[in-house]
Amino acid sequence: MSTFGTGGALPTNADAGRSSFRTSVINLDRPGDPNVFSEQVRRDAANLIARYPEGQARSALLPMLHLVQSEQGYVTSDGIAFCSDVLGLTKAQVSAVVTFYTMYKRTPTGEYLVSVCTNTLCALLGGDEIFAAVSETLGVGNNETTDDGRFTIERAECIAACDYAPVVTVNYEFFDNQTVESVNQLLDRLADGERPLPTRGAPLCSFKQAERQIAGFFAPEDYALEAAATGPSTEAGVTLAVQRGDTAPSYAVDDSSARTGEDAETAARTTAGQGPSQNDAPMETAESDTANTTEPGAEKED
Ligand code: FES
Repeated sequence: MSTFGTGGALPTNADAGRSSFRTSVINLDRPGDPNVFSEQVRRDAANLIARYPEGQARSALLPMLHLVQSEQGYVTSDGIAFCSDVLGLTKAQVSAVVTFYTMYKRTPTGEYLVSVCTNTLCALLGGDEIFAAVSETLGVGNNETTDDGRFTIERAECIAACDYAPVVTVNYEFFDNQTVESVNQLLDRLADGERPLPTRGAPLCSFKQAERQIAGFFAPEDYALEAAATGPSTEAGVTLAVQRGDTAPSYAVDDSSARTGEDAETAARTTAGQGPSQNDAPMETAESDTANTTEPGAEKED
């Protein structure tokens, strides 16, 4: 029997406007308390910072934000204060990053984050209908969480699985080639306490557990490392090439590079008639970035 649509305790469309989870919580009027995080979290933060060169603690901001999400389910004012405190950044700097990336959530996220790709290919193959069905079934809209705190839904931009469109992820694990019927079955099973195996990738875990892995702390369960990351569609081109005995064309390398000290890769490009692109130019300092150079005679803006 379908868990949803029974008219029981689960949310309905009529409830959709009354979620208590909707208010944005990045409130810079509220200072946030970095001390709500445990000593273990501070040790985890130190572990992340130690992965970057000395004096570059700020480089750990992205995994740090996933770490605070693994603790609180989203980035709270406390999380912003914690990152600011530990990394020596201002809260405005931390908030600017949080509000830029969609993987940093600003409202409480459910146990399962259901992301429905509604970008071009998935939309053409039914992504919008699937999103509408998920929204109808759970009684919440885009970026909203059910009142029981179990499900958050979002429209996703292309999640690099167009060969399996239309695609849905749950806590960033893939469920490929979905239909309205299959996604409703998936929601039913999750609501019933099951954790169906994704089509590929690691087994499902909770949103907070997933965030801890994204932060860079791997799950101790061995099975998480055994899952297949690709499927037949992804490998179809390579498989066909192997069957046909195709090889990638090589390009000649001008051995004069050995005489001139020229980089072999650059020599190969030049031989093939492709000069090194602007993107290949080394940019060791901000001054060497051509975006920062000023045309002769032009006033440099302050
Ligand atoms: S458009 Fe949906 S995965 Fe690319």
